[in-house]
Amino acid sequence: MKSEECFSEFNFESSIIKNFVEMFKKTDIRMREGFKTHPIDKKYWDKEPLLSKINQQFQIQKCGIIYMEPYTCYDWHTDVDRGVCINWLIEHKNSFTVFGKNKDDLNLDVIRVPYESNRFFLFNNQIPHSVTNFEGNRYLFTLVFDRKKDDLSYEEVYTWCKSEGLFV
Ligand SMILES: [Fe+2]
Repeated sequence: MKSEECFSEFNFESSIIKNFVEMFKKTDIRMREGFKTHPIDKKYWDKEPLLSKINQQFQIQKCGIIYMEPYTCYDWHTDVDRGVCINWLIEHKNSFTVFGKNKDDLNLDVIRVPYESNRFFLFNNQIPHSVTNFEGNRYLFTLVFDRKKDDLSYEEVYTWCKSEGLFV
């Protein structure tokens, strides 16, 4: 399994949203669509250089922060709606995001997302993945594109971003 098929690291860190994270964490984190989330208003994310650029090519429907409790795990899945998204691990202590492909009946080949860099990552939501959070709160920035999985693939966004020189 190649890492570029699963995720790609942008050459961008947050320059705007990071200033409001503490405020977002304190207000209105609640269950939405099965996850504890906080929506981020367009007035914030549209000032983020990477997101405003990408939004001109692939319209962003919404952005938000997802909270994950300590000692919990998102089971292996592919996303119901999203073919591709952009993530940034805002805060965590000890968590693992892993992509996997079946090797045989019992084993998977796995690859871990190196979120430690603090940069935004393009994320392939249609390759099976799982998240395990050990001690500490985990806050992840994520987004939803207007175009859903049948219409917008990781490969399409990857190819455009690569041609624009947006990756490290
Ligand atoms: Fe997912």
